[in-house]
Amino acid sequence: MVDEFDRRLGALSRQHAAAVASGTAALDLLMAELGVSSGDSVVTSSLTFVATIGPAVHRGATPVFVDSDPATGLISLPLLQRALRDKRKPKCVIAADLYGQCCDYDALEALCAEYDVPLIVDAAESVGATSKGRPAGHAGLAAVYSFNGNKIITTSGGGAVLSRDPEIVCRARWRAQQAREPVQWYEHREIGFNYRMSNLLGALGCAQLDRLPTIIRRKRRIFEFYEKAFAARPKLGAVPFPCAAPEESTHWLSVFLFPTPAVRDAVAARLAAANIESRPVWKPLHLQPTFRNCRVYGGTIVEDFFNCGLCLPSGAGLTRKDLARIEACL
Ligand SMILES: Cc1ncc(COP(=O)(O)O)c(C=O)c1O
Repeated sequence: MVDEFDRRLGALSRQHAAAVASGTAALDLLMAELGVSSGDSVVTSSLTFVATIGPAVHRGATPVFVDSDPATGLISLPLLQRALRDKRKPKCVIAADLYGQCCDYDALEALCAEYDVPLIVDAAESVGATSKGRPAGHAGLAAVYSFNGNKIITTSGGGAVLSRDPEIVCRARWRAQQAREPVQWYEHREIGFNYRMSNLLGALGCAQLDRLPTIIRRKRRIFEFYEKAFAARPKLGAVPFPCAAPEESTHWLSVFLFPTPAVRDAVAARLAAANIESRPVWKPLHLQPTFRNCRVYGGTIVEDFFNCGLCLPSGAGLTRKDLARIEACL
């Protein structure tokens, strides 16, 4: 079943795929592929989950963070260019897709090619979305998906390595299975990992892929619900989190920005009083205590997102009654 899940992920993403234990494991396999080690720098988005950069840091790399473009919320291309110009050849760029939206893959590829730096796409949050028609993760040297419990499709925990280069995926699959040589006895030229997805979860992944179109339809309807609900309440001043091409996003999470932190906090508090969970957007990585000494290019745009942004209930299982309860709080 896990081989079948690989095939189906390959068809979805129009490339080769290997299903593994998590998105973080997938990133770790790609850092091993690139030979990331102590003394390297890795350039990445500041507005993302810590797992985007965690595996590189475990290998001793120094992260360099880049602010977002205010018009898209995604990594700023002019600031990325500045980082690439300043840093003598970072080991790679890891660009993170965000909240159901893909980065501009064409532009990122052109920029990374100009500086001859490998591009990895963290497409954990964009499974099912497209970038000018290209499927999520269809860019750069390789990409990763996540099927964690909160993702658009889930295997309870899981992820995948994706690449147009079959050799990269083949090596990821090999490393994920203890780097065992293809001989009858146990032979190892390199130390690998036990990262391969189990067959049972592969079966769950296949079943989830069947449901993906329905889930995306529901996610988009939930986003439209919030758009209408906030349009009817102009005093709240809420606007959707920036998105370059809303029709290409899955709207995995419905995220809105409020005019001030106080309004955002008041909305979150009102929801919490009704036992409805909401959450601020990602705390920028350059503000995380563990990264306090790391370089950041820009930073104020993502700080504003963190201060004023709210991720609203977005589960595909939300019923009309649930949405009515949320609207009553607003
Ligand atoms: C952007 C991003 N990268 C990586 C991960 C890590 O994936 P996983 O939880 O499957 O290890 C996540 C989510 O969990 C994520 O949102």
